[in-house]
Order: sequence, then structure tokens, then C-alpha cells
Amino acid sequence: SSNDAAVQDSYRLVESEMSTLCDSIRHELSINQGELGTIVRYYFDGTGKAFRPMVVMLMAKACNFHQQTEQLISDSQRNIAMITEMLHTATLIHDDVIDASDSRRGKDSINLVWGQRKAILAGDYILSIVSTILARIGNPEVVSIMSQVVEDLVRGEFMQLGSKEDENERFKHYLDKTFKKTASMLAASCQSVAVLGGCNDAISHIAYQYGRNLGIAFQLVDDLLDFVSSEQQMGKPTAADLKLGLATAPVLFAAQQYPELNPLIMRRFNQEGDVETARSLVAKSDGIEQTKILASEHTKEAVRLLQHLTSSNVQQALMRLTQELLTRQK
Ligand code: FPP
Ligand code: MG
Ligand code: MG
Repeated sequence: SSNDAAVQDSYRLVESEMSTLCDSIRHELSINQGELGTIVRYYFDGTGKAFRPMVVMLMAKACNFHQQTEQLISDSQRNIAMITEMLHTATLIHDDVIDASDSRRGKDSINLVWGQRKAILAGDYILSIVSTILARIGNPEVVSIMSQVVEDLVRGEFMQLGSKEDENERFKHYLDKTFKKTASMLAASCQSVAVLGGCNDAISHIAYQYGRNLGIAFQLVDDLLDFVSSEQQMGKPTAADLKLGLATAPVLFAAQQYPELNPLIMRRFNQEGDVETARSLVAKSDGIEQTKILASEHTKEAVRLLQHLTSSNVQQALMRLTQELLTRQK
């Protein structure tokens, strides 16, 4: 598909960095030779999409080119990409405990194989190594930018445990949560590589806003794929959000057309038949389509922001990757 082509084009521009990413991460996590080492390295087997680090490396190159008409990625920028993938994976390990999920990246989840207690500690361990790598970069501004992500992730995940009473506040709550659990990381890591590339505040801010818009679009698409994709396609359970009590964009849009969804959202779909009722109302509604439209508004804004950077092959690839996000299948 054109989506695959866009990913491949982008991949080629950062191929040497991407091909060593997993080994570098495994190396960072290699000091521990026992069971903990085995568990923390389990997902870094080269089969993940590695979407986040790819975006971060492309942004680093685009910023470097903008700043000094050369693209070479510095060690510290490469470390931000590595931190992004590690932090993301640590949160997924914890997330699968919270969601009682038994598969991830096409494999049995860590909590399924080793149990919840070891999964929690594995996530904590990766987080601790992330902190040391961040400290090693030695840039206080970047430490502060990236530390905010950890706070946002926890707060975003916590927000998801409760539903907002007021129907009018629900969408705002959902978007705020989406920023925190997904977009904050992309925003902060894009901003960090801009700062490390010597870009001024205006450009660093543009990098941040790009990551924010990309992240929100990414999660909107993730939330709609939960309704329309399959476990085989995604490598993780689908049709899961309603069962977890979560009202994401497709349901929230559907509730505007079918207000009878509101009490189900309030009780987090916990009564017999709620999940099926909600699923069929979403299917009858424009919820999926409206979610796609909202995602496309964010990708368009992201592409618009990229136009502030000097035109280059990397900038073009990033634009295409951003547009093609809307048609991703996994
Ligand atoms: C996946 O969402 C979850 C996240 C993106 C964030 C999870 C954050 C935490 C568990 C708290 C912070 C943890 C650390 C280590 C700082 P999802 O369940 O909607 O996605 P899925 O379908 O991939 O499971
Ligand atoms: Mg989950
Ligand atoms: Mg979750």
C-alpha cells in the first residue's frame, strides 16, 4: 500500500540508525544477566513498528538540516530516539498489567508469561535505565522536557480510570487524556532533538507542536482501529476498549447521534449487553468517519507545521509519513 511505501521511504533515510536501535537498547539493558535481563529485553527483538524513534530521528535530521544544512544525527539525538522507544515499551508493559492483556507485538505479553509482579518491575527497570541515559545526555533543558512526559503518562493513564460526569466535558477530557498518554511523548522528543540540534525556541516549539498533533492523530487512529481491525493485524487484542470500560472518540461521536449511549458510557459498559449495544450503535453512526476526520485535521496541522523547516528530502518524507498515518493498518 502507499502507507507501506511511505514508511519504507522514511525508513531508508534513517536506516543505519534504525537498524542499530534494538541492539543499542539491548546493550543498555544488558548489564543484568539474570531473569530480569531476559524480561526487559523481551520486546526489543526488532519486530516492533518503532514508529516513535523513526519520527524522532527524521525530526532530528530535518532540524539539523534547517539549522546548519547538514543532517548527521548526533549521539544525544540518537539517545532521545532510544529513550522514546524504551519509555514507550516500559509503559506498555505496565499498561498490559492494568488492562489484563495477554498479547503484545504479536507475542504473549510479559504479564502472561512471567506474571504481574515481574512485569511491573521490568517496566520500572526500563524506566530507571531511561533516567540514566537522559542524565548522560547532560542537557538540563532536555531533562526537564523529557521528565514531563513521565508525569503526563501516569496522569493520562490515571484519567482513563474514571469517566467524566458531564457529557459536555467528556470530549475535552478524552483529548486531554490522549495528549498525555500518547502525544506528550512525541511532542517532547521532537522538541528535545530540535533543542539538541541547536534550533532556536521558535523552531523547537514547532517541533513540539508537530509531535503533539502527530501523537493525537496517532491515538485517534489507534482508537478507531480498535473497532475495525483484528488481533491478527495489530498483534494485540482489538475490540478491547469497550470491554475495558473506555469511551474513545468513535463512541463519543456516536453518542451525539444516539444519546441512548450516554448511560452506557457513564456505567463504563459494565451491564450485560452494553458492549454489544455500543458496538452496533457505533457501526450505525458516523463515529468512525468523524474520528478519521478529526485525526486528519491533526495530521494536516502537523504537515503545515513542517513547512516552517527548510525543505529537504527528510522533511518531505516526514510529511508523507504524517499524511499516511491516516491509512495505517496496524
Ligand atoms: C497504551 O494504551 C498505554 C499508554 C500509551 C500509556 C500507559 C501508561 C502507564 C501504564 C503509566 C506510566 C508508566 C510508566 C512506566 C511511566 P492502550 O491500552 O489504549 O493501548 P493498547 O491497545 O496498545 O494496549
Ligand atoms: Mg492496553
Ligand atoms: Mg490501556
